[in-house]
Amino acid sequence: MKKIQISPSILSADFSKLGEEVVELEKCGANLIHCDVMDGVFVNNITFGLKMVADLRKITDLPLDCHLMIVHPEKYVERFAKAGADIITVHYEACQDNLKEVLALIKSAGAKCGAVINPDTPVEKIADVIPMCDMVLVMSVFPGFAGQKFIPEALDKLRQVKAIVEKCGKDIDIEIDGGVTEENVEEIKRAGANVVVAGNTIFKAQDKTACIAKLKA
Ligand code: DX5
Ligand code: ZN
Repeated sequence: MKKIQISPSILSADFSKLGEEVVELEKCGANLIHCDVMDGVFVNNITFGLKMVADLRKITDLPLDCHLMIVHPEKYVERFAKAGADIITVHYEACQDNLKEVLALIKSAGAKCGAVINPDTPVEKIADVIPMCDMVLVMSVFPGFAGQKFIPEALDKLRQVKAIVEKCGKDIDIEIDGGVTEENVEEIKRAGANVVVAGNTIFKAQDKTACIAKLKA
């Protein structure tokens, strides 16, 4: 079994002191930093973009796990890679028939690539591109906001993704994003996720180190 990695979502951080928050997450045992990029079109919220990623790159050595919730990701993926994103994930729903090309663009820009599916998109839609991904991200909430409730149907999708990954025999990470808690993380990991995103659970914890350790255990 792959080692569990925790990718705290900075969407739940206080943006007015984001640098300090990221440095703290690193000290508390985070493995990656999950950067939720939202454009107000693909999702009903706006967060941050290229400059934030470039500035975060200067203050942490942790891999920046950039989840693009934007339309026309093909226009931006190379610039996110240049800004310092280590992993760039793009939504099937934003790329549709272009997904293969966008993933290839990310790879050629030197970053790891991943495909994301929303809760109402079946795994079959990305089955053919999974072998070219470094990571597959299964959304367990509809993207846009932190602090939503985990949609349990995601567990079955994790199992389906895991079966495809095992069949192709490649080293592909499986990430879950949305509504992860200390209570449901066990079954999420059992279903196949090895990269766990958590926003509110980590940022609302009294002790972030203990919380991250519990999510990993
Ligand atoms: C939702 C984002 C998630 C979110 C996770 O659109 O992609 O990364 O911030 O936050 P929690 O863990 O609070 O659901
Ligand atoms: Zn996310």
